[in-house]
Amino acid sequence: MLKIRRRQFLALGAGSAGAVILTELAGKLNQNLLQPALAGSQQHKSQDGLLELDLEAGYRPVRVGNTQAYLLSYNGQVPGPRLEANPGDTVRIHFTNNLSEPTNLHYHGLHITPQGNADNVFLSIPPKERLTYEFTIPPNHPAATFWYHPHHHGFVAEQVFGGLAGLFIVRGKLDEIPEVKAAQEEFLVLQDFALDANGRILAPNNMALMMGREGKLVTVNGQVNPNLSILAGGLLRLRFLNASASRFYRLKLEAHPLHLIATDGGALAEPVEVSELLLAPGERAEVLVRGERDSGQYRLLNLPYNRSGTGLMGNGRIKPGMNGMTGGMSNHDMGNQSQSPQVLATLTYRGSISRLALPKQLIPVTALPEPAVVRRLEFSMAMGAGRKMTFMFNNKTFDAKRVDTGVKLGTTEDWDLVNVDPDRMDHPFHIHVNSFQVVARNGQPEPYRAWKDTVLVQGGETLRIRIPFRDFSGKTVYHCHILDHEDLGMMGILEIRA
Ligand code: C2O
Ligand code: CU
Ligand code: CU
Repeated sequence: MLKIRRRQFLALGAGSAGAVILTELAGKLNQNLLQPALAGSQQHKSQDGLLELDLEAGYRPVRVGNTQAYLLSYNGQVPGPRLEANPGDTVRIHFTNNLSEPTNLHYHGLHITPQGNADNVFLSIPPKERLTYEFTIPPNHPAATFWYHPHHHGFVAEQVFGGLAGLFIVRGKLDEIPEVKAAQEEFLVLQDFALDANGRILAPNNMALMMGREGKLVTVNGQVNPNLSILAGGLLRLRFLNASASRFYRLKLEAHPLHLIATDGGALAEPVEVSELLLAPGERAEVLVRGERDSGQYRLLNLPYNRSGTGLMGNGRIKPGMNGMTGGMSNHDMGNQSQSPQVLATLTYRGSISRLALPKQLIPVTALPEPAVVRRLEFSMAMGAGRKMTFMFNNKTFDAKRVDTGVKLGTTEDWDLVNVDPDRMDHPFHIHVNSFQVVARNGQPEPYRAWKDTVLVQGGETLRIRIPFRDFSGKTVYHCHILDHEDLGMMGILEIRA
């Protein structure tokens, strides 16, 4: 009855004995030990300047929506526990790898050192081994919505798509603004899964690798269409994380504008009203919603979005049926091609209070100095012999032994991100350690300043971003946050030299 389909959950670690053992374990659990996962994830908050916890990555039965799934989880939960710390805190994470393949931890968006046992993506923690991560969050670190996830090159897409992701919240000035503090706070971790009939993760086919894998089961905090409540007259602070490996979310809340108050790396100077919000993988956004109706239910929607440009299927390079490109696509959902909106959550009015105001000012976003250097980074992909796909920056695929970009600590640079992908595919660019500001998009200045660490570069676009290299030297990376593209080479090594 139990089928061992190692490739379906660990395509790259399939040869190891660990995979077999874990699969058998899952089979036993399937027979007797199933119980629904806890509603909402565990939380760990720092106390007296220290955030310390045990964190285990493992393959476990987890309930997502009404489905019993077998996912990769942190401490048995999908999403993983929510961590909360303050600027100046020390963070100590006793990490155990119970997967059957190597992994590690990355602290996406945190401005901490990339060296040692901190935000070091070059560490490799083999199966069954442990490592204690320890670092300090700088005392002037901005408050924002950050997250942690695996970052072992070659395994990133598979492990994040398996469910490994959790929020890392840094508290601070933004949380103390009275209007923000008065708002009801909700975290929304957006994840999608492609499962077979037995709840096991489907292996990606070539098309899924090329587009980046997506799954039809779309979840918010591991739930399908959860309920959110709002008070008439009240304020709701929604903190979104796109923790999906490749899926984009074009968010819209029926009958309610969104008041954007923070992007990846921190608060805006003042709220910006938007009717919808596009979140590429890795991006975060915080919005305030005013309870401006009296009653009723309103859907939080994911509107259709085509992230593949126009060329992908039409240019004759990829034909359906080629080398299994279209085989087994049933539970994969590539590029949000679906033409109808999906419901992510439902907002319900429950009760009322006297009308709360939106904040007028948030936190100044300082202008960065003029750049010392301007660089150009071209994004592209190619199909090599045997239809081997490569994704590249400046025509080079990732090489762990090569430093692609050397910069000087304490300087500011402008990078032109130029998407020359022949398929006009979208690529969300992400850089570790330092947040940046977008200066211009296709030559047009941005309407307002914002701190970003992940930004969408659509097919054919050129973005100019300005990056300050502050406080920390060492080697780190930048990459496309469609994680299959990253694993297939669209990553470069940055060395910040003191
Ligand atoms: Cu969220 Cu280098 O990653
Ligand atoms: Cu990151
Ligand atoms: Cu990409």
